[in-house]
Amino acid sequence: MKVLVVGGGGREHAIIRKLKESKGVTEIHATPGNGGMYKDAKTVSIGAKDIDAIVKYAVDNKIDYAVVAPDDPLVLGCVNALENVGIPAFGPRAEAAIIEGSKVFSKNLMKKYGIPTADYNVFSDANKALEFIKTAPIPTVIKADGLALGKGVIIAFTREEAIDAINSVMNDKKFGSSGDNIVIEEFLEGPEVSVLAFTDGKTVKPMVSSMDHKRALDGDKGLNTGGMGTIAPNPYYTKEIADICMETIFLPTIDAMNKEGRTFKGCLYFGLMLTKNGPKVIEYNCRFGDPETQVVLPLLESDLLEIMQATTNGTLDSCEVKFSNDCACCVIMASKGYPEKYENGFEMVIPEDIEKDVYVAGARYENGKIYSAGGRVLGVTHVNETLKGAIDGAYAKVNKIKFDNAFYRHDIGARALLATEEK
Ligand code: AMP
Ligand code: GLY
Repeated sequence: MKVLVVGGGGREHAIIRKLKESKGVTEIHATPGNGGMYKDAKTVSIGAKDIDAIVKYAVDNKIDYAVVAPDDPLVLGCVNALENVGIPAFGPRAEAAIIEGSKVFSKNLMKKYGIPTADYNVFSDANKALEFIKTAPIPTVIKADGLALGKGVIIAFTREEAIDAINSVMNDKKFGSSGDNIVIEEFLEGPEVSVLAFTDGKTVKPMVSSMDHKRALDGDKGLNTGGMGTIAPNPYYTKEIADICMETIFLPTIDAMNKEGRTFKGCLYFGLMLTKNGPKVIEYNCRFGDPETQVVLPLLESDLLEIMQATTNGTLDSCEVKFSNDCACCVIMASKGYPEKYENGFEMVIPEDIEKDVYVAGARYENGKIYSAGGRVLGVTHVNETLKGAIDGAYAKVNKIKFDNAFYRHDIGARALLATEEK
């Protein structure tokens, strides 16, 4: 079976590597992929948002099954467009991808169906938002409605910061039209957990839980990034909490989407906060997380293509989704200066014996060598029986990679390790 993966980051590389293990896969194409994937897929320079070109490529190359990984093409209807030409695809159709595409939609969905989340108000008028904030409890959280590359969330610890945030999102249009509407919501506290789940719109099969590290610097300091590293499983996510989440969040969400006529198929990402009052949804994503995928999929023992096809065909209930009991840690090697200004074009030398555990997020290929191209560049994963072993192993691999402009956090998994030891 010829498979096309839409997207080009480390998450897509992890999906491609896992698909290579699937019995039914004969060829993997990636649009656009990146230069670091040259041993694993045929990369084609078509942007992930260029839906027409993706569909044409898929038809011309007789693609049997497509996997649409990033949020943008999903929200823009890439799955709908592929289905229209008879190519089945993994991921939600646009009408379901709105669960990530619009925070106003997802907040209203949760309120309507009683799914636990932070209290909130929606504003389309900046003056009304500014009036509201005069008396709102502080800290508070301000979210642009639409997609904003993971940067549309501002946590304001003072009233002045909240006013600045409203002005920059609604009046100065910092995130363009994504900020036409905003959500102002209650500030929640507690450990955060990412749970990715396969679903065919009837059955939900959660994957192993994980923990992201969003801040750029050690000790959770510095700016928010797309994610500087992950560990799995997340020690805060006990069996008891998992059962509560299934009953109060996962199944009710699938049910709510069906009732709205927006059946969700694919991977639904639950960003959860474990508060004193129980688990609450911080955000939904309509796709695999990045870099959560780089720790979750290496632990998957079942056939990824079969699972993906089962979500498309509505047969997930009879499909095995099994994870190993091991732990995984992924350390992101970024370009110095990320997430702000950084330089590209540095040669990266990855020893052959660890190549299979390095997921390339941004690279250019030239004459058998790869050069950095992007903010987040490599994800280095290690799997071990213990979390400590996984963390130590990931950093040992990082130390073997030659990449002059590299910058990474030194404490990925440290908090999780403390939580494990406290138990
Ligand atoms: P998001 O872009 O929705 O993933 O949000 C980015 C980060 O902002 C989350 O990972 C949380 O750490 C934080 N965050 C979002 N909403 C809230 C909230 N209501 N209370 C506290 N922190 C939040
Ligand atoms: N790592 C967070 C995300 O993929 O949105």
